[in-house]
Amino acid sequence: MVTYQRKDSYYHKAKLAGYRSRAAYKLIELQKRFKLIKKGMQVVDLGCAPGGWLQVAAKYVGSSGCLVGVDRLAVPALDFQQVKILQGDVSDAATIAELQASLTRPADLLLSDMAPDTSGVGFADHARSLELVEIVIDLASQILKPSGGMVAKAFDGPDLNELIMRLKDSFEEVKRLKLKSTRKGSRELYLIARRHKA
Ligand SMILES: C[S@@+](CC[C@H](N)C(=O)[O-])C[C@H]1O[C@@H](n2cnc3c(N)ncnc32)[C@H](O)[C@@H]1O
Repeated sequence: MVTYQRKDSYYHKAKLAGYRSRAAYKLIELQKRFKLIKKGMQVVDLGCAPGGWLQVAAKYVGSSGCLVGVDRLAVPALDFQQVKILQGDVSDAATIAELQASLTRPADLLLSDMAPDTSGVGFADHARSLELVEIVIDLASQILKPSGGMVAKAFDGPDLNELIMRLKDSFEEVKRLKLKSTRKGSRELYLIARRHKA
């Protein structure tokens, strides 16, 4: 399954490189900047369909690592033994139980590129994207190791600062970043939280 939307330069690069989505370049950009993923890590990728981040992160964790992807959509298998893919909604307790069972120890890093189905109503989409980030923060308290990290996509809007304050309660360092690889005009940004306080 390959989904490409409007055909910008990242679309063409992704197609040539064999990535399942142009989103792969967002994780590459995050990794260049923050060096979040290291060999041997246990990493969770929430909202992983169609699999661009999985393809990139699988190489960063290497064969000694473990990468668990979750999406409510089906994701065709990838040819990396360190990648497991689960289908389910992250707001569903059964999905979280399955995710916990897939990890052999607390996760080093939670990635979330989850996005709500957009309505076109800016504030509603912003609010729903923040709800997804709240789910990831709650999940961090269950499956992330102390000092672990988290990256989550959010749509910018008036309630973002309050959410960042909440993240700062749980993590020692929180940054926000608009990526070059994000489409022009998009309200998408990424929150990068490090050193979980749990
Ligand atoms: C922008 S796409 C992710 C692209 C992916 N990072 C890649 O590189 O191919 C966002 C994904 O979030 C998923 N998603 C949104 N809400 C979700 C939820 N509550 N539970 C699981 N997945 C969800 C959607 O199904 C969608 O596939």
